[in-house]
Amino acid sequence: MTIVRNNKYHPKTNPNGIINLGTAENKLNNVELLGRINEASTVTAEQLLYGPNPGSDRLREEVALLLNRHFNPKILLSKENICVGNGCGPLLNLYGQVLFDDGDAVLVPGPYYGGFHADINYGSRVYNISVPHSEDDCLKVDETALEKALKESTRPVKGIIIANPNNPFGRCYSAEQLLLFCNFAKSHGLIVICDEIYGLSTWKEITENNIEKDATRIKTSIDGKLSRYTPIFSLDLPDPVNTHTLWGFSKDFCLNGLRIGVTISYSKVVIDAIQKISFLTCIPTNIDNILVHMLSDHKWTDNFIINNNRKLFKNYIHLTNSLKAHNIPYVKGNAGFFIYIDLHKAGKLNEFDLWMKLLEGGVYISPSQAFFSADTESERNWFRICFAVEQSELNLSLDRLYKVLDNLKK
Ligand SMILES: Cc1ncc(COP(=O)(O)O)c(C=O)c1O
Repeated sequence: MTIVRNNKYHPKTNPNGIINLGTAENKLNNVELLGRINEASTVTAEQLLYGPNPGSDRLREEVALLLNRHFNPKILLSKENICVGNGCGPLLNLYGQVLFDDGDAVLVPGPYYGGFHADINYGSRVYNISVPHSEDDCLKVDETALEKALKESTRPVKGIIIANPNNPFGRCYSAEQLLLFCNFAKSHGLIVICDEIYGLSTWKEITENNIEKDATRIKTSIDGKLSRYTPIFSLDLPDPVNTHTLWGFSKDFCLNGLRIGVTISYSKVVIDAIQKISFLTCIPTNIDNILVHMLSDHKWTDNFIINNNRKLFKNYIHLTNSLKAHNIPYVKGNAGFFIYIDLHKAGKLNEFDLWMKLLEGGVYISPSQAFFSADTESERNWFRICFAVEQSELNLSLDRLYKVLDNLKK
């Protein structure tokens, strides 16, 4: 990241700099967002004072309404189920402090979003145990694999953490798989945390005309089955008070830098505990006000979500057409804004060296190691490419990627 930040691409001021397609940021809606946010960005005298740590009542009400409109929860959410904080990362840390003890472990289907390690371990000293997916499906995790991880752990296992939609695979768990996790958790007394930070970037469902032509795609060995998005609270859960979720504004509203995340839980005990220590993670009062301004206009908000997903689908197709034309296998996606590509055929370089060559060639994408992949031939030499950037930038970075790969072949 230091190499990337110190030599950041800019079309005018640093055209030879490194293009960052490694960080999961969506840059496709700057005009719409800045217009909306700047309408409410004057700071008032009231906002110079302390605000409520878990977020204002207005904001928590609007978040509950948004999630009720889009996530179809079995039991309607209200502000009492919600605590707002400065990002899903810090809030996972709070969950870690509230739900587990130092030295506990949690099962995480792997490869998994690398931030989970820092989020759950640095503050709360909880350890992730990666559980492998089945050989032919990147999101299929069977009970035997979960049992094995549980049995082999030298630490007390207390929970399961899932990202749905999944990062790095850019696709969603099936309802059956989610219930398998939840039933397994219930039968072993584990807590489930489901991170749904990409839940409103589920472009395959949100957009119309979303057919992806598969004909010329080289399939990967882990393609498995693509499933519809199922928000976890829309299911009949075996243990709703021990199932907690995260959602946030970084991804679905493209506001990574404003730092806003949300914990959602039906457990009064857990929400009370989170609220008590939310002084560690509270958001600034003017950001709270900006979010209320955005979300209270339901028409604007729901249109924004649809338009964003149309743009994501368009870029996904643009990127996958290009990958197909260059015979690069990828895991087919339906959510989020990244694609997991298979670069095993790119030559004999190991993943790290290949990654460095790509950086030298001016493009930063994330290697599988960033997702705690296993150090095996099959799990290494995969890379995650983010596609939520202007197509001109995407094209330039792809040209750079193909040039490095061509040179390696030569
Ligand atoms: C699955 C997942 N959870 C959490 C985060 C971090 O979110 P935030 O910016 O709200 O801290 C990310 C960021 O990439 C992510 O991919």
